[in-house]
Amino acid sequence: MKISTKISSIQDVSTDCFVIPLFQSEGGDKGKPIIPKEVKELESLISDIIDSKAFTAKLNTTLFLRNTRLFNAKNILLVGLGEWKSDYLSRVYAAAKCAGSVIRCEKVKSATLYVSGFCKNKKGLDDDSTSQAAAGFFDSTYEFNEYKTEKEPISFNSLTFFSDQKSDEKYLKTGIENGEKIFQGLKLAKDLCNTPPNDLNPDKLVNWGKKATSQFDVKATIFDTSRLEKEKMGGILGVGQGSKNQPRLLVLEYKGPKSSSKVCLVGKGVTFDTGGINIKPSPKMEDMKYDMSGSAIVIGTTLAAASLKLPIHLISIVPSAENMPSGDSYRPSDVIAMHNGKTVEINNTDAEGRLILADALSYAHTFKPDVIVDAATLTGGVVIALGTVAAGVMGNSDEYIGQIKSSGEKVGEKVWHLPLYDEYKEDLQSGIADYRNSGGREASPSKGGTFLNFFIQKEQPWVHLDIAGVAWAASSNPSGNCASGWGVRLLVDFLSNFKSMKSKK
Ligand code: BES
Ligand code: MN
Ligand code: ZN
Repeated sequence: MKISTKISSIQDVSTDCFVIPLFQSEGGDKGKPIIPKEVKELESLISDIIDSKAFTAKLNTTLFLRNTRLFNAKNILLVGLGEWKSDYLSRVYAAAKCAGSVIRCEKVKSATLYVSGFCKNKKGLDDDSTSQAAAGFFDSTYEFNEYKTEKEPISFNSLTFFSDQKSDEKYLKTGIENGEKIFQGLKLAKDLCNTPPNDLNPDKLVNWGKKATSQFDVKATIFDTSRLEKEKMGGILGVGQGSKNQPRLLVLEYKGPKSSSKVCLVGKGVTFDTGGINIKPSPKMEDMKYDMSGSAIVIGTTLAAASLKLPIHLISIVPSAENMPSGDSYRPSDVIAMHNGKTVEINNTDAEGRLILADALSYAHTFKPDVIVDAATLTGGVVIALGTVAAGVMGNSDEYIGQIKSSGEKVGEKVWHLPLYDEYKEDLQSGIADYRNSGGREASPSKGGTFLNFFIQKEQPWVHLDIAGVAWAASSNPSGNCASGWGVRLLVDFLSNFKSMKSKK
């Protein structure tokens, strides 16, 4: 799909579908759509609909009006943005995506968006709302049909961002450009997650990440088995040893212009998680192809950051392995030596993510970054606790957790702070080694975070995101292509607005 821009008076709009975003007056579900004066002609058209409360402008609702001819528009699509509040930006992406899906379903080819509708009171547009809107519309055209022998083409192929304010022009242009770059990162993350594990083993994952980012100034280094051995990365090697698909580690380095701050992103890349010898139960095991979502959003964010030329020094690290049961697998009761020299007794081969992450986190210290942020589908417990609504966030730095939180609130990807109490360490003690890898199912997100924390040095700020619940949108899609790409928009915003705390120490 192409997005172009148009500045003119509203009378000059001529389109198959005029998309008008509307806020809802206060009063929750019972509120009415607020109709801006620029589109007040709408009021007479939909007065009975407003009276009947059939459309209230609630978020994720739409109203498709056919053959209206109002504003020279064949059809009009009203899109709900929810109540007008200062956090409106967090809803723009979702509303745009929802509108785009309706346009797709209605088989409309080209549409015009009344962009100003995304900001109430015509305070004027900004780059963020325009780019979130563009990213949402692009994402509505996302398809994963690599494996379909018959592909249905999408008819929705052109969208115009329209404003009647000359001063909006620059926001339209940069916003759309940035939105497209963010979407490219999101799309890469979703493609990686949706690709079945027979086509995405660790070697393919890291090479895909290398290739996708090579068009920009990104340096890629891949550790093969012998390099992993040299680096003494016993966690990655241990988890990977049961599969004929050997483990890998990818390092992507991007040094943006005037980059004074250094951030390390680390993403779990388990290309399939059977549980290993502690094999998982059969139902839903097929979902475990998305156990590399952390790595996918880290690679996607790196692509977007480089393409946006963000002024940051970014090092992205992806440890990748396939967790399989076989005669060569690591066993419960094995003791393995990790990259930082510590030893771990394996009491559950299904707690594999923390082992590969531990080596990558330990390695990340060698870059001396301002902060390390890891993302991982680490525990089923976080799905139980927060569902698909929010990711769990943990770490040793309230400042950086705060920055992650505010980026999440800003773009509509919620995170919830979970504790790392000292008591959780007790269940991770081993009689034979320095630690054991599973502390059982109680408080498993916090115990997973606590385990990772063993591999973070005291003075190194670190934030951990447990994305097991948010990475896979199983209820809104048919099975097999449910990747949400959750986190790419959050991390891009985090990197765009990054404030180093180094000088404050
Ligand atoms: N990949 C899983 C976590 C997971 C579960 C992600 C469900 C998405 C949906 C992880 O490797 C795992 O198996 N975790 C165990 C840890 C336990 C053994 C301490 C879990 O959560 O059961
Ligand atoms: Mn597991
Ligand atoms: Zn896993």
